[in-house]
Amino acid sequence: MSKNTISTINQMKTAGEKIAVITSYDAGFTEQIEQAGMDVILVGDSLGMVVQGHESTLPVTVADMVYHTANVMRVSSRTMVIADMPFMSHGTPEQALDTAGRLMKEGGAHMVKIEGGAPQLDTVRHLTARAVPVCGHLGLMPQSIHQLGGYRVQGRGEHEGERILKDAVALQQAGAQMLVLECVPSVLAAEITQALDIPVIGIGAGPDTDGQVLVLYDMLGITLRGKPSFVHDFLADKGSISEALSAYVRSVKEGRFPGPEHTFS
Ligand code: KIV
Repeated sequence: MSKNTISTINQMKTAGEKIAVITSYDAGFTEQIEQAGMDVILVGDSLGMVVQGHESTLPVTVADMVYHTANVMRVSSRTMVIADMPFMSHGTPEQALDTAGRLMKEGGAHMVKIEGGAPQLDTVRHLTARAVPVCGHLGLMPQSIHQLGGYRVQGRGEHEGERILKDAVALQQAGAQMLVLECVPSVLAAEITQALDIPVIGIGAGPDTDGQVLVLYDMLGITLRGKPSFVHDFLADKGSISEALSAYVRSVKEGRFPGPEHTFS
């Protein structure tokens, strides 16, 4: 099977084929994820919570991200791999370029993900003008948890929804080639997905985005701080990790996940 690239993922959006994305942080899980037919792997800074046991993603360092990205890349042969830019690693365009350079050169990532809208536009322009592919991240942004005051749905209400839509369009114009939308009402996610040419990947954003992403540990029922309501425990249904991963891919592709019980209005 050929390797997924941003062109493959764009073609999936055009063809209306749902994109299956999951986080991974090591070689063993990555091999199983590849065998399940996943389209994209995100080396998320969620590793700070699910692997390292921190209360938030804030303590994760660039060195952590490089280490875990390299673990994934060592066995990944077919999936496209995106690596998160951790908290305080992209405060200026120059610092962001340095971080992205490490994630791509030392880690081997194919794309980097940055949380934030309007304040990140200069950075996104700076990176994309220098051959760094960027995925944006809007809605609930875990690196802003202390500003947000908790992990809760974003974009409820006309004003907030419009701001997120405006940020999404601006990120695309700045050169972002993919967007993650986290914990927003499904109607807003559908509107943003329609408005953008780039693939939109949802988590807690309803069924109408171009694809879905889940944190690996969450969908295997390994939840240190309780299972978020938008997650389904695929391991509980299936009994083996490889079956759980395949069931997730199939459920995303067939539009069966997320269901109404995983969706915010
Ligand atoms: O860090 C992460 O795993 C993420 C996903 C929740 C999208 O950003």
